[in-house]
Amino acid sequence: MNKEWWRKAVIYQIYPRSFKDSNGDGIGDIPGIISELDYLKELGIDCIWLSPIYASPNFDNGYDISDYRAINPEFGTMEDFDKLVKEAGDRGIKIVMDLVINHTSNEHEWFRKALAGDKKYRDYYYFRSQKNNWGSFFGGKAWSKAPGEDMYYLHLFSENQPDLNWHNPDVYKEVCDIMRFWLDKGIAGFRCDVINVIYKDSLDNGKRRLVLSGLEHYLSTEGNHELLRRLRQDVLSKYDCFTVGETVFVDPAEANRLMGEDRKELNMVFGFEHMECDQRGVKWFRRTYSPERLIRALDRWQTECEWTANYLENHDQPRSVSRFGDAENCRRESAKMLAALNLCLRGTPFIYEGEEIGMTNCDFKKMFEIRDIESRNVNDILARLPIPKRTREKMIFRVTRDNARTPMQWDNTAGAGFTEGLPWIRINGNHEWVNVENELPDEDGILSFYKKLIAYRKQSEALQFGDYKKLPAEKGVYAFERQAGNSKVTVVLNMNSYEEEFPEVTGRVILSNYGRLSAESLEGHMKPYEALILEN
Ligand code: NOJ
Repeated sequence: MNKEWWRKAVIYQIYPRSFKDSNGDGIGDIPGIISELDYLKELGIDCIWLSPIYASPNFDNGYDISDYRAINPEFGTMEDFDKLVKEAGDRGIKIVMDLVINHTSNEHEWFRKALAGDKKYRDYYYFRSQKNNWGSFFGGKAWSKAPGEDMYYLHLFSENQPDLNWHNPDVYKEVCDIMRFWLDKGIAGFRCDVINVIYKDSLDNGKRRLVLSGLEHYLSTEGNHELLRRLRQDVLSKYDCFTVGETVFVDPAEANRLMGEDRKELNMVFGFEHMECDQRGVKWFRRTYSPERLIRALDRWQTECEWTANYLENHDQPRSVSRFGDAENCRRESAKMLAALNLCLRGTPFIYEGEEIGMTNCDFKKMFEIRDIESRNVNDILARLPIPKRTREKMIFRVTRDNARTPMQWDNTAGAGFTEGLPWIRINGNHEWVNVENELPDEDGILSFYKKLIAYRKQSEALQFGDYKKLPAEKGVYAFERQAGNSKVTVVLNMNSYEEEFPEVTGRVILSNYGRLSAESLEGHMKPYEALILEN
């Protein structure tokens, strides 16, 4: 395996809307990001993945792009962006952009021209007189009527996100040019949005399913693989950059097909199997979380994949400490244990803004506090069913993507140090004690744990490139070894909320979330959420 820079990089995801507001309009922006580059440098990250900052009417917070070559004025200007790349570069930090090419916004010039009847642009999208039975990822149908016509257009996400027709060579050329435009500005790659569903094999009716009927006609199709190979060959291979694909419904075998070194498609993929361990089929239906199921999914990907893009949070997922830890009683310990998990597995680790200070799910009280289009759609659908309002709200608040999208908590002031204005979305009430200002001086805090661990990882060949081997341990205890040559690191994580037996491992303590100086001091028992990193 080649040891490219992005394999050992620690990547930090910024959701620009919620990171830092510099001008008091309640919306995070690029100058705000620039003002916190020193904070990120101190944390030790190598690369920032920016969720979309392109011009957008924001029906899906930027994942509906109306101009791929313009910066959303809410976030700043192109000069601000260029400054960000430069200032980050000066600190040794690279910038990766989101590439959203399954769909555009319905306000994109291409779609407007298509609606106006321009034949060329009509063929950039899927317009049909008959709709098929496909379902949308956001609930409901995947087809909507084109305004003022008897024709329908396809949208796998919201009706404001019409799908591009990847059979059209002009679409391919346009996207290649867009990619070059940003790569020429010095960015280091792309996180590719829902990249394994962009190429539709046919528009036939799909097998009827509860959700996402039609999936078999566009999921990881051979045409999709071919397209990824062409994009790599024609554009990406000319730059020192990487791609990480957001790939839905893939197992390790398919993940390897999408990112295998010899396949020359993507460089890494985000799998979802571990994110599904506390749900039944769809995320709205809860399954009690069991650490064992999470461990099984992670172990499978670690064992079967050539490489993995590791993450426990992003802008679409609830906060990990509320999900896999205990935000009420053991927030510190469990956040550190999860840090050890994410940063010690084999693969490239991604940290989501606020994860490094143990931010939790938000205490939403009412549906009107929810901004996310997906949650609002689902709420509308559920409201038609005989489900009590309180139950419906509880279902939504638990998993809404807005849990991850509340503003970054910098301090305990009314605006959490995020804004001096009215924030675009509610600030989590716990910013009074969960915030960066509190964490910074705390040698024993979550943030310090991240810094120490990232610094350790940087000089450890075993953690960066070593083999992975799971070790025998009690239920809910994840013990694994990472080894490169003579250097070996052993990681033991009690992911349970209760004490559990410590497995038979030895080594010098590098990091502990309970202040242990030696493995012997455990006397065979691990505390709830206890994590130990040992060097042999
Ligand atoms: C996946 C993105 O992560 C999500 O936020 C977005 O809503 C959909 N793709 C549609 O672009």
